Amino acid sequence: MRAGKESSTEYTIKLKTVRQCPIIVGDGVLKRLGRHFDFSGYSATVLITDTTVKGLYGKSVLATLEAAGKKPHLLTLPVGEKAKSLSTVEEGYRFLLEKSIDRKGLICALGGGVVGDVAGYIAASYLRGIDYIQLPTTLLAQVDSSIGGKVGVNFSGKKNMVGSFYQPRAVISDVALLKTLPPAEMRNGLAEVVKYALAMDAGLFRILDKKEKGKFNTAELVDIVKRCGALKAGIVEVDETERSGQRAILNFGHTVGHALEAATGFQKLSHGQAVAVGMVAAARISQQTGRLGADSVDSIERLLSRSGLPTGCPGVDPDDLIGAIRFDKKTTLGKTGWVLLEGMGSGVVNQPVEESIIRKVLREICR
Ligand SMILES: NC(=O)c1ccc[n+]([C@@H]2O[C@H](COP(=O)([O-])OP(=O)(O)OC[C@H]3O[C@@H](n4cnc5c(N)ncnc54)[C@H](O)[C@@H]3O)[C@@H](O)[C@H]2O)c1
Ligand SMILES: [Zn+2]
Repeated sequence: MRAGKESSTEYTIKLKTVRQCPIIVGDGVLKRLGRHFDFSGYSATVLITDTTVKGLYGKSVLATLEAAGKKPHLLTLPVGEKAKSLSTVEEGYRFLLEKSIDRKGLICALGGGVVGDVAGYIAASYLRGIDYIQLPTTLLAQVDSSIGGKVGVNFSGKKNMVGSFYQPRAVISDVALLKTLPPAEMRNGLAEVVKYALAMDAGLFRILDKKEKGKFNTAELVDIVKRCGALKAGIVEVDETERSGQRAILNFGHTVGHALEAATGFQKLSHGQAVAVGMVAAARISQQTGRLGADSVDSIERLLSRSGLPTGCPGVDPDDLIGAIRFDKKTTLGKTGWVLLEGMGSGVVNQPVEESIIRKVLREICR
């Protein structure tokens, strides 16, 4: 992985995975799509997006694809998590067949994590795999889901049950698109940014900590998306298919976060909110096990609050959380593997923790 400066607002990170994948970050880069990606070898392009993003950016991206010499086909998915299903994937296959898309077709996934995950899985499996590029439009997708090649859908009520590791040919992140993102979605992405800062990048934590209200200008957003992209790329390069364990660092805050989402029926809290509470729990467990100072825990909680994210989940039964964590662990063969902090920006993976400490901290965050 190499991060290089191209101009004052554009950066390219070279992700060296099985299929090499440049990550381009900047302000207005989508308008210059033809400059950043070579469409010449493709027989056709298929733009996959959701209804909201189509309304905002569909026309201009279609025009850019036309200008690149490819008459694009457009497949619009419904908005939200419900679109992450095998029936959407099937609809995608039908659409591609109908349009006679062959192995040289290119899918362009324009949207948040939902569009990226579904479109990526269609690309991974149609004709045993055709090329795709990620054009992420949410902060979460730009800093996290578009990078690393995890694609897939939910199945039988379980998230991301069916999928694949399949790298895109490029990730093009235009921070200009974040101007239309609703504040709640911005906060969702911010939770993942805080995750990178706490587990991997003390410098990023200091940048975030200086901001009064978690509101960023364009230059700051470019810097944040580039930094997070480089951090994720660095991890994905050493553990592309999540075999060696390093990729688990990206799950900081997610053990309790996922449990909280499950225990509250995926209704009460957004993913970002659940992860924020999960990060507080992990930080407190780190403190209780002698790895992190109380002052660090305080500054983490202050940063989350200032960013409009919760630091606790009053009213949730800690036993429900324990149950959900146990259930989650079963899928990893009963192994306990907490991601904890040994200082700001220094996450450690696969840490066993005594149940009494977990219970104590969960009681605290549920108070
Ligand atoms: N593949 C991975 O590695 C990975 C990692 C993290 C999360 N995910 C997945 O990502 C999904 C969540 O992604 P998300 O948070 O981006 O949600 P999302 O894709 O549902 O987008 C959130 C909302 O924002 C809207 N939107 C998107 N871009 C917009 C813009 N620029 N302006 C205005 N509105 C816009 C969407 O229409 C949607 O309503 C989950 O399914 C999760 O499992 C995947
Ligand atoms: Zn997450």
